[in-house]
Amino acid sequence: MATVFITGTNKGLGYEFVRQYLKLGYKVIATCRNIAHADNLNNLSSNFSDKLKLVEMDLNDVDSVKNLSKTLKSDVIDIFISNAATNLGYISNKEKNVFGAIDEKIWIEVLKLNCVMPLMLAQQLKKNILQGVEKKIIFMSAKTASIEDNISGGMYMNRSTRTALNQVVKSLSIDLEKDHVNVLAMSPGWVKTDSGGKGALIDVKTSVDGMINVISKLTRESSGSFMDYKGEIIPW
Ligand SMILES: NC(=O)c1ccc[n+]([C@@H]2O[C@H](COP(=O)([O-])OP(=O)(O)OC[C@H]3O[C@@H](n4cnc5c(N)ncnc54)[C@H](OP(=O)(O)O)[C@@H]3O)[C@@H](O)[C@H]2O)c1
Repeated sequence: MATVFITGTNKGLGYEFVRQYLKLGYKVIATCRNIAHADNLNNLSSNFSDKLKLVEMDLNDVDSVKNLSKTLKSDVIDIFISNAATNLGYISNKEKNVFGAIDEKIWIEVLKLNCVMPLMLAQQLKKNILQGVEKKIIFMSAKTASIEDNISGGMYMNRSTRTALNQVVKSLSIDLEKDHVNVLAMSPGWVKTDSGGKGALIDVKTSVDGMINVISKLTRESSGSFMDYKGEIIPW
């Protein structure tokens, strides 16, 4: 059975990806920042001990990202899902994310966590992905990245770092065409999680059900595009 690698899995969309892929029979390599505190993951692990591998990784810590390729040296990855990201500059630091009060240190940190480190991680695990059969790389982006869809302004940090990530996806899809790797930027919708908030429109199950379906249909033709959880193309 194929193996899925997913980051940021102790809660929210990441945890739901782990739960659903295990249920579908996949092997899952799941990262979180602190295994000892990841109660839900540890419970899953006791039911799927032969299928679920938990590893620690913090996108803030370059060494922990670099060490992952050593820890996973002999693991094949069929589907790579970069899900972990920060909600800094999005919810908790809203007041520093409006024109006139932008905090450049937070913005640079958000760029690191939302765009730079996800690509560094894919780079570290390139060998594992090339050994996979499915050869798919998925980056969790957000509809807020769409310039065409931006009719309300604001959200400078979240929007700009996700737009940058989408550009990364496009380049990577072109660079990895010769290796038969397909790459996708995904918007999960507005989802009820700690980041999305209680007022969001859909639950994690609906979003992840949809995304798993979209990922299963990813081909060379759709590689390098930006899609939502229903498989609809989002304009750049
Ligand atoms: N929910 C939405 O409406 C929505 C909309 C658009 C895009 N997204 C994107 O979907 C993805 C998942 O979001 P979510 O809604 O499930 O959010 P969430 O419930 O807040 O989960 C975020 C995950 O990212 C992890 N994370 C945060 N900082 C990290 C770091 N420095 N290193 C490693 N892991 C880190 C968190 O771990 P800790 O618990 O250790 O912090 C957590 O596992 C994110 O990329 C988010 O931007 C969500």
